[in-house]
Amino acid sequence: MEEVLGRWSATRASTWRFFDETLAPGAYEARPIALRHPFVFYEGHLAAFGVNTLLKGALGRPGIDASLELLFERGIDPPAEGGAQPEGRWPSRRDVSAYVRRADTAVEEALASETLAGEEFREAVFTVLEHEPMHQETLRYMLHRLPYSEKRAPAASPPLETSGPTRREPVVRVPAGVATLGAGRDEIPFGWDNEFPKSCRSVPAFTIDAAPVTNEQFLDFVEAGGYADPSFWQAGDAEWLSESGVTCPSFWRREGRAWLWAGQFGLVPLPPAWPVWVSHAEASAYARWCKRRLPTEAEFHRAAFGTPEGRERAFPWGDAAPTAAHGNFGGERNDPVPAGSRPEGASAWGVHELVGNGWEWTSTPFAGFGGFAPMASYPRYSADFFDGRHFVLKGASPATPVALVRRTLRNWFQARYPYVYAKFRCVRP
Ligand code: AVJ
Ligand code: FE
Repeated sequence: MEEVLGRWSATRASTWRFFDETLAPGAYEARPIALRHPFVFYEGHLAAFGVNTLLKGALGRPGIDASLELLFERGIDPPAEGGAQPEGRWPSRRDVSAYVRRADTAVEEALASETLAGEEFREAVFTVLEHEPMHQETLRYMLHRLPYSEKRAPAASPPLETSGPTRREPVVRVPAGVATLGAGRDEIPFGWDNEFPKSCRSVPAFTIDAAPVTNEQFLDFVEAGGYADPSFWQAGDAEWLSESGVTCPSFWRREGRAWLWAGQFGLVPLPPAWPVWVSHAEASAYARWCKRRLPTEAEFHRAAFGTPEGRERAFPWGDAAPTAAHGNFGGERNDPVPAGSRPEGASAWGVHELVGNGWEWTSTPFAGFGGFAPMASYPRYSADFFDGRHFVLKGASPATPVALVRRTLRNWFQARYPYVYAKFRCVRP
């Protein structure tokens, strides 16, 4: 259990740093994304999740504060803006902190005294260990939407990398073959319910972009009037665009004749070589404009993990554990790096940047694999979102903790969700 305790305390400490150091005190109740709860919710949610999942769920013990454990139980992705908790009903930071201290003490005690022998407790432990890193990413992209005065940059950030790209073949042909999605229950130490069971797909040959679409490429679409032409968009998108006034990616700003990039901690001239971060709706419109399409989840797997010998690898680059040389993930950076500038992370086919620098949108609606069963430790984790309105994303963003970098991990968001750090690439006919 020592390893578990170490992981758990390091994760808790990094969440505290976010609330104590990065987020300005006045922004605690801010709710920069209407589809999500305010920051205060997440401080309570992360502590209450341990109590609800480990103590009450797996160990059948009493909780600490029933009303806070209900208030902080769940708060993701309500179907419409305004679907989250009404404003003004949140406890003060003092009260939340007092609860967090009690909850953490109880969870730490349980982790220290139990063993991982029982399967139910073991699954609950991993659920808690991976849930918090996920929300550390949520917090980062929520923070992104705050005015610069309401956050403080960490003292040491790596310098911006804006120049690129490296010259390479623009597209790669991937021959027909099998892609293995998900995993058998005994094949990986932990996975969320939607990663099971194993699902083998036969994938016809396809031609895919060797690197994700960049700001420079996407600018052609914007300047060609792509946002104003309904023929590139899905049903309902044109109304949504005109009502919301969206005319460019949500990370872009226009200043006179110049385009700027609104980074986490500052504005810079739009770096042409960075991947463009957009919603699924925008990515699909771009693809339709250039007579291409988004890859399916199975094609992504084939491009990322397949090899000419037919063996499938754990990561695009092979079986070695992920490091900063393989891609821009792990939380060190707040910004992208030039598309395809981590060649050590390329796949066996020479497809670059499949993990890191932004999640990657696929055309596959989020659903369970055949034989899907909701997990005991969090039965509503996935199944609530098998609604045809959410799409699978693969890979990782700069804000994704390395604990979540694995082949089987699947992320998902609604088509018009512009907040998550997500890029895309196209498949050519
Ligand atoms: C898997 C990232 C879509 O935060 O929206 C966290 C993960 N579920 N708590 C989300 C999640 C419950 C979820 N995503
Ligand atoms: Fe959560």
